[in-house]
Amino acid sequence: MIKELLVSASKSKKLEKVVSTSPLSKGVVNRFVAGYSTADAVKKVTELHKLGIYTTIDRLGESTLDRKDADATVAAYKELLRALADAGQTHMAEVSVKLSAVGQALGEDGEKIALENAKQIVEVANEVGTTVTFDMEDHTTIDSTLRILAEIRKLAPTTGGVLQAQLHRTSSDVANNAYAGSRIRLCKGAYAEGPDVAYIERTEIDKAYVRDMRTLLESDGYPMLATHDPRLIEIGQALATSTGRAKETFEFQMLLGVRPEEQKRLVELGYKVRVYVPYGDEWYAYLMRRMAEKPSNLALFVKSLVSKS
Ligand code: FDA
Repeated sequence: MIKELLVSASKSKKLEKVVSTSPLSKGVVNRFVAGYSTADAVKKVTELHKLGIYTTIDRLGESTLDRKDADATVAAYKELLRALADAGQTHMAEVSVKLSAVGQALGEDGEKIALENAKQIVEVANEVGTTVTFDMEDHTTIDSTLRILAEIRKLAPTTGGVLQAQLHRTSSDVANNAYAGSRIRLCKGAYAEGPDVAYIERTEIDKAYVRDMRTLLESDGYPMLATHDPRLIEIGQALATSTGRAKETFEFQMLLGVRPEEQKRLVELGYKVRVYVPYGDEWYAYLMRRMAEKPSNLALFVKSLVSKS
């Protein structure tokens, strides 16, 4: 119930205005978001790299309905990739891109525009020696996103994709994408979906996650296990051992500001850990989805909104 409310709040422009302009939101934003500028993002990832943590950087913004915004996002990613190269950080940083931020939602031609824009970002990533992963958005975008991913992989086979265990279709998508070299991030799914397309019960979602994780770990692909769930992380470790996976052939992924001690602990155990680092002005929808996932994040957020200190 609370998840649905918060996910729908993430789409409310009115609420966005109230929350975004409140100086009191700042403390919470700082925990989950690297900052506003390219320089902020580069600074944050450099700090994480020093701890042995890899990163994937997301320029906040999604579902753009304006061609100019889509082009500005592409330009921002190019600037970011070049800044990472200048700072000597591309060995540990890649970027995550939401296709709806680069044009996918722009009507009939949206997919074509997103493909062309994604190509430009991937070309610069190639130039500077790193990779791109396409985030996955709500279920209506999946076929289009997978088509774009398949097209881009013809040029850059290491381009990553994301699959969401909560959806009924995902086991089949995982099987289709579990091939040599395929980088797939597996997450539970951040969007509120209906029972016609998704598992609703937590235990069902977790069971699906384990099934999909097993398929990926048993394949020749490169699994990126994105979860903060201690049980799933433990099962992931056990499955990696039982399938004979070397630690450098897969990675755990978590979000900036969520379970940082666990991130360090896994690095100390020799696992590869990558943190998703968002930056930019448009943090509202991202933050609302984080609140939907964890009531204590919501409590922290409300406290910062009402606190005078
Ligand atoms: P869940 O939210 O169910 O939490 C399970 C358990 O983890 C909790 O019970 C608690 O023990 C622990 N936990 C979670 N949050 C915690 C916190 N703040 N502090 C302490 N413990 C905590 N989604 C999507 O739809 N498309 C995408 O492209 C991506 N991309 C993505 C990248 C990366 C790197 C990550 C980590 C996640 C995503 N997601 C995503 C989001 C994802 O789908 C999901 O919504 C969140 O990761 C939350 O799910 P968990 O697996 O962490 O479990």
